Amino acid sequence: ADAPIPLTVEATKGGSKIDRNIFGQFAEHLGTGIYGGVWVGKDSSIPNVRGIRKDIVAALRAIRVPDVRWPGGCFADEYHWRQGIGPAANRASSVNTNWGGAGEPNTFGTDEFMDFVDQIGAEAYVSVNVGSGTVQEAADWLAYMTADASTSAGKERAANGHPAPYKVKYLGLGNESWGCGGSMTPEHYVDVMKPFARFTHNFNPKQTGADAMQRIAVGPNGDDTSYTEAVMKAYKGHDWAWSLEGLSLHSYTTGGWPPSYPSTGFDEAAYAKLVKETLGMEGLIARHSAIMDKYDPEKKVPLVVDEWGVWLAPTPGTNPGFLQQQNSMRDAIIAALNINIFARHADRVRMTNIAQMINVLQAMILTDKEKMVLTPTYHVFKMYLPFQDATFVPVTFDAGTYAEGGIQLPRVDAIAARDTSGRLWMAITNLDPKRPASVRASFAGIRVHRAQGEVLTAARIDSVNSFDKPDTVSPKPYSASASSGGGVTLDLPAKSIVVVQIES
Ligand code: AHR
Repeated sequence: ADAPIPLTVEATKGGSKIDRNIFGQFAEHLGTGIYGGVWVGKDSSIPNVRGIRKDIVAALRAIRVPDVRWPGGCFADEYHWRQGIGPAANRASSVNTNWGGAGEPNTFGTDEFMDFVDQIGAEAYVSVNVGSGTVQEAADWLAYMTADASTSAGKERAANGHPAPYKVKYLGLGNESWGCGGSMTPEHYVDVMKPFARFTHNFNPKQTGADAMQRIAVGPNGDDTSYTEAVMKAYKGHDWAWSLEGLSLHSYTTGGWPPSYPSTGFDEAAYAKLVKETLGMEGLIARHSAIMDKYDPEKKVPLVVDEWGVWLAPTPGTNPGFLQQQNSMRDAIIAALNINIFARHADRVRMTNIAQMINVLQAMILTDKEKMVLTPTYHVFKMYLPFQDATFVPVTFDAGTYAEGGIQLPRVDAIAARDTSGRLWMAITNLDPKRPASVRASFAGIRVHRAQGEVLTAARIDSVNSFDKPDTVSPKPYSASASSGGGVTLDLPAKSIVVVQIES
């Protein structure tokens, strides 16, 4: 057997808060992400509350989704909110030009989205249409959502069933304006974005202080730093008339473009290639953060990774424009590694949104009519719950090496944090699909008697949960006793994620 990997938890030291928003979700009008996934309509035989599926609400409540980004994505820059309010029979129907040319019935609009986030207990992150809309259209939308019921906009909302202003906590100022959002140069985007930041007023009287709405500007496309430079430079020079409270970063794990890696039936070489690519998130965040530090050394503006995840070949037989893919043990490991990276950069990365919540890309949940299944990625989000708003605790370890073909990767990865009640937690991933690993953890400053929590592993790296076999990849109880010296040896199965409370 291999020698145990030594790991030290600086248990009495603390770092940044791991904002619960790094566990945020993204739900676009794309494929069956909304229609079928969230919305089935009030008359559906699928159990629902005001048209929203009961089963997915229960599942999403259980992972305490902090916020949901909506309505896109590329869809957002062609979305006209007025088409999605008022009596269902009067709503316009349109075509979803970005995603498979599907019909867009607009039966899920602003009021339904707000009902949905309310049902799951999440904050609303609304992206306004900067690409093909006007500043006036966006300002009117904010008034509809947030103005008092005594105003014309508020009266219209009240007539649609909601007299009280909604809370719009996050506002996206466009989406991928360097691409599907209008192919704008960074300088042009800055000029276009400023009036949106200036005139989209949030009138909700309760949103003051820490609850004030945060405006998130379009930022970098992967490694390209031109938007980071231009938007942050503009931020530094901002005056009383406008400001920003976030810069977006989009980065997917694709294995090349267009995405061609299958979501099932892949080999270890494909696994290693995608895991290596996903670990690039570390350098990406470091490079963009360094630029942000130049213009914002106090780190007032968070880097918001509001689209990330593994983007694979579409499931055979599905509409390729629906971006439907299975979700495997590999994807669970990819999720854990990314969350660990975000936690290490918690001083700057204070929000992320995995793409996407249901039925699209690296989904939490898959549905097919009345059926629903929780993916391995869902289980990672559930296991990591104690890390929401926890305080980062430094960990040092020799990661060792996992090699496949010409690719060298760390064998293990780990983070630690103290939850909001002061309890110490560790999350450790064994990346190696064949070799179990043993980690000998010691804890500077405390005496430990037990580690207890859950382990997620599977027979194969491409094991998935299906409607017929929903529990193929599901967490199991895990515990390890401390040695007489107060350390704990954690035995990690091959390709596994362990999350444990360190009891002292
Ligand atoms: O998540 C799918 C798409 O990926 C989004 O609509 C877009 O913003 C990105 O290119």
